[in-house]
Amino acid sequence: MQEITSIGLHGKSLLRLADITDQQMLALVNAAIALKARKKAGLHIQNPLIKGKNIALIFEKSSTRTRCATINAIRDEGGNAEYLGTGDIHFGKKESVKDTARVLGRMFDGILFRGFAQKTVEELAQYSGVPVWNGLTDSWHPTQILADLQTMQEHFGYLKGLTLAFVGDGRNNMANSLMVGCAKAGVNFVDVCPPELSPEKEVVELATGIAQRNGCTVSVSHSPQDGVKGANVLYTDVWASMGEEAVFQQRLKLLSPFQVDMAMCQRTGNLENGKLIFLHCLPAFHDANTEVSKNTGALEVTDEVFEAPFSHVFDEAENRLHTIKAMILASLI
Ligand code: CP
Ligand code: NVA
Repeated sequence: MQEITSIGLHGKSLLRLADITDQQMLALVNAAIALKARKKAGLHIQNPLIKGKNIALIFEKSSTRTRCATINAIRDEGGNAEYLGTGDIHFGKKESVKDTARVLGRMFDGILFRGFAQKTVEELAQYSGVPVWNGLTDSWHPTQILADLQTMQEHFGYLKGLTLAFVGDGRNNMANSLMVGCAKAGVNFVDVCPPELSPEKEVVELATGIAQRNGCTVSVSHSPQDGVKGANVLYTDVWASMGEEAVFQQRLKLLSPFQVDMAMCQRTGNLENGKLIFLHCLPAFHDANTEVSKNTGALEVTDEVFEAPFSHVFDEAENRLHTIKAMILASLI
C-alpha cells in the first residue's frame, strides 16, 4: 500500500509519539482510515501484507483492547502473533531484558510490549534488532492516541483547531501521550487536573515546543469548571492506573470533583451545537454496579455521559485495531 510504504517508518520502532515526525503520525492515522475501509471491503483476505511474519507480544499488565487489536491486526494481514505473558517466559526473572531481546530478535520480525517501565521497551528496541512497539508503559501509550486521533478525524473531518480537554489524573500515561499527540496534530490541549496530579514539567515543555510549531496550545487547568470551556473532545481515564491500586482512596478524594457528568459537558459550551464528543481509552468505571466502583465509588464518568449519543468510546476502541495495524505495517512492509 502506497499510503504505508511512503511513511518512512520501515524497520523503525514506535516507543513514544515524540520520536516520529508530526507528518508520520498523521500519515499513520490516515493509513488506519484506509485500512479500515480495506478491511470492511474484505480486501485484506485477497492480499495479506505481512504473510509469514512472526510477531511477539510481551505483556506485563492486563489488556483487552491492545492485545486483541494487535493479534487481529497481525492475523488479518497473514502474520502470526505469539502472546507471551510474563508468567510464560523467563523475562525479568531468570533472564534479563537485554538477553530476552536478543533471543526474540533472532526469532521474530517485531515485538509489541506492554508493561511498567519505559526503560524496558527502550531496551527491547535497543537490543532486539527488530521493530518494537510500545503497547503502554507507565509513561506513554502512543498507539491509543493514534486511535483517538482517528476517531476525532472521522467524526469532525479535521483535527487542526479542535480543543481536547483531558480531565482526571493529569500526569498519567494517557495525559502525557494525549498532550504530545494533540500538539503534533494541531489540537489545543487542556490538562484539567488537581494540582497534586499535575503533569511533569518536562512533558509540558516537550508538548509546548511541538504545539508552537503547529499553531496550537498546551495548558494546565486546576478548575473542572473553567478548564473544559470550549472543548470539542472531553476525555477521561481511570483515576488509578494499572500498578497504582494502592492509591485508589487518595485518588478518589482528589478526583471526585473532576468526574465527567452532563453538567461538565454543558460547561464546554459545545454540547447543544453538536460540536462535542466524549472519549475514553477504556476500560472505564461508569456503572455504579461494577464491583470496583461499588466498593470505592470511583466513577470517572457517569453512565449518562458514557452511554450518550455523543460518546464515541466504542468507535475509538475499534480504531485500536486499524491504527495498530497501520503502525505494524509501516514498520514491516
Ligand atoms: N485502552 C487500552 O489500552 O485498553 P486495554 O488495557 O484493554 O488494552
Ligand atoms: N492509564 C490507564 C490506561 C489504560 C489503557 C492505565 O495505565 O491503567
